Amino acid sequence: MTFIPLCLPDTMTPEQFLSEYWQKKPLLIKQGLPQLIDMFEPDDMLGLALDEESSARLLTQAPTKPADKPQWQLKKSPLSETDFDNLPAQWTVLVQNMEQWSPELGQLWQAFDFIPQWQRDDIMVSYAPKGGSVGKHYDDYDVFLAQGYGSRRWQLGKYCDKNTEFVKDEPIRLFDDMGEIIFDEVLQAGDVLYVPPKLSHFGVAQDDCLTFSFGCRRPNLMQIIDSLADIATNDSDLFIPLLLPQTRQPSGELQAESISAIKDQLLQLLESARGDDIIGQAVSEVVSKRQYDALVPEETLDTDELMQALAEGATLQADYSNRLLYHKSADGLSLYANGQRLDGLDTIAIQILQRLADGEALQADDVADIEPDDLMEWLENGWVWVNVADNF
Ligand code: SIN
Ligand code: CO
Repeated sequence: MTFIPLCLPDTMTPEQFLSEYWQKKPLLIKQGLPQLIDMFEPDDMLGLALDEESSARLLTQAPTKPADKPQWQLKKSPLSETDFDNLPAQWTVLVQNMEQWSPELGQLWQAFDFIPQWQRDDIMVSYAPKGGSVGKHYDDYDVFLAQGYGSRRWQLGKYCDKNTEFVKDEPIRLFDDMGEIIFDEVLQAGDVLYVPPKLSHFGVAQDDCLTFSFGCRRPNLMQIIDSLADIATNDSDLFIPLLLPQTRQPSGELQAESISAIKDQLLQLLESARGDDIIGQAVSEVVSKRQYDALVPEETLDTDELMQALAEGATLQADYSNRLLYHKSADGLSLYANGQRLDGLDTIAIQILQRLADGEALQADDVADIEPDDLMEWLENGWVWVNVADNF
């Protein structure tokens, strides 16, 4: 799996997708991700769902709504084999953060290279037997629904908003009425359906079926403010008493003028070059954070094995279960991995990590000037993945 073409119809450019469809309209991309076909089998997913370190959910649906009881039942991981005993006919098991378990699957993010890495969330898989679904619902974020095994019928309906009402007392957000159905098709393995935020959708397994959701995310202001506060509380330069014009005032009052003078000084700081640095750091830290804890790798190569693998043609690639990104400012390029700024890197290391963050597959020659110990550290941190498979 060396070169992965973009997941777009042949006649569509990324620019066209971003301006006409992204966050606006759904798009069916027939055979958009053929690499996914039979990459996994349903049994693989059952095994993963039972792993104590996986983040999984088992959703079951009673055939009709029992009186005074929800129709749906949700059990979150850890799941055990007994959870799968006596299941009703319709159920779905979902496993998040699949790129953590399969770097090869994670590499398929390259098919969505027109979405920057920092806006990608994770790959979730759903396994359902015929008839299984997670109900009619909408999501707050963009998602590419890629069929990996079997087939699923997808229906798309109305756009929802914060006033859309969900069925009461169910453990998941779902509704009965999707409004007018604007799309109704069965997706086969390799097909991909892009669904923008807030568009209601309903996918029903037609047979044993694996669907991979390549989900996106966007930061919110609460996270940015939280991160700003973290950075600011460690910056002694900001521990400077503010300048306040003094006027005669009742001694019990905190006057609006004083608050506004403080606000002005805060805004001045945020608008200064120093403010740009702090905001750049805050945003970078937020968007480079991983959502799930890192798994401890079972085994990694040692230094000799790594150098040998590279010499034999293996490539070094970003591991998409981790977040490696950079931002450029007047001071140069700052790199971040998993929520932390990487300080103290030399120019060569910065250039190499930048290329990896941009999705390049690097060969022995590309990394010849880097200390093997540095490469090992990147590997052990999980930032990079050694792709040996393509050489055999
Ligand atoms: C599914 O794979 O069944 C659900 C994915 C989604 O609706 O976002
Ligand atoms: Co959804």
